[in-house]
Amino acid sequence: MSFETILYQLHERAALITLNRPDVLNALSSALISELARALDDAERDDEVGAIVVTGNQKAFAAGADISHMKDLDLVDTYLGDFLRDEAERIERCRKPVIAAVAGYALGGGCELAMMCDFIIAARNAKFGQPEIKLGTIPGLGGTQRLTRAVGKAKAMEMCLTGRMMDAEEAERAGLVTRVVDNDALLEDAIATANVIAGYSRVAAYMAKESVNRAFETTLLEGLRFEKRLFHATFATADQKEGMQAFVDKREARFQNR
Ligand code: CAA
Repeated sequence: MSFETILYQLHERAALITLNRPDVLNALSSALISELARALDDAERDDEVGAIVVTGNQKAFAAGADISHMKDLDLVDTYLGDFLRDEAERIERCRKPVIAAVAGYALGGGCELAMMCDFIIAARNAKFGQPEIKLGTIPGLGGTQRLTRAVGKAKAMEMCLTGRMMDAEEAERAGLVTRVVDNDALLEDAIATANVIAGYSRVAAYMAKESVNRAFETTLLEGLRFEKRLFHATFATADQKEGMQAFVDKREARFQNR
């Protein structure tokens, strides 16, 4: 399948989706959002793919929704058109694990897109921010919600109210990113991480992802019950038998996703 605003490649069992509008710092146009959603559909359908990496370039992961397109929209356009719904939120419906590999600017919708992924690996030059306040608006793709859950009220409030950027080290300290790596090691690291995940039982990976996400949606007691039931359910899989037998036999497990 061919795309104009993104690139799609396979690296062993990892799908790599590169946002590719470098002239406008990967601003999220409707075309880009649509193509990203289609690429995610492709990756989800492809049995060979076990995990997905979403990235940009060295200067920008994405500098936000496309301001030149948005500036003339009115309330009726955005409200009746349900602007930035569905396709823009496709990542959060992915069942396969999705890693954001962020270098450069991840601002506004760019920061929000990264936060929709399961975790973020950042290059040393990454900068995160929700600068919508400077444009007379507020985050519209989850910035006030996911940033607050990731870094807590004080920092999220300050970022959304002042529009200031957070560098990679601050983002790591605050819990927004999982790891900071050298700029030129970012892609290799993210793809290797995706392939590690892809090498495990897909059933276990989906269940682990579902269970961690449940922590944000329910009480601790309900979350613990949910986790326990999924844990029990893994004992009905061939992969659990293989994983534990391989440990006892002191050999690598060969998971079949069964
Ligand atoms: N939309 C459209 N075009 C954008 C863009 C965006 N979000 N961000 C950058 N660009 C374009 C610039 O207009 C410029 O295009 P031209 O060369 O044609 O002038 C090109 O990308 C390069 O940008 P700059 O010249 O501004 O680069 P810089 O290095 O001087 O500055 C920057 C970099 C600080 C990131 C600056 O580009 C910037 O502030 N961008 C806007 C960031 C922003 O406000 N994002 C939030 C958007 S609103 C949103 O996302 C809502 C939501 O929650 C969904």
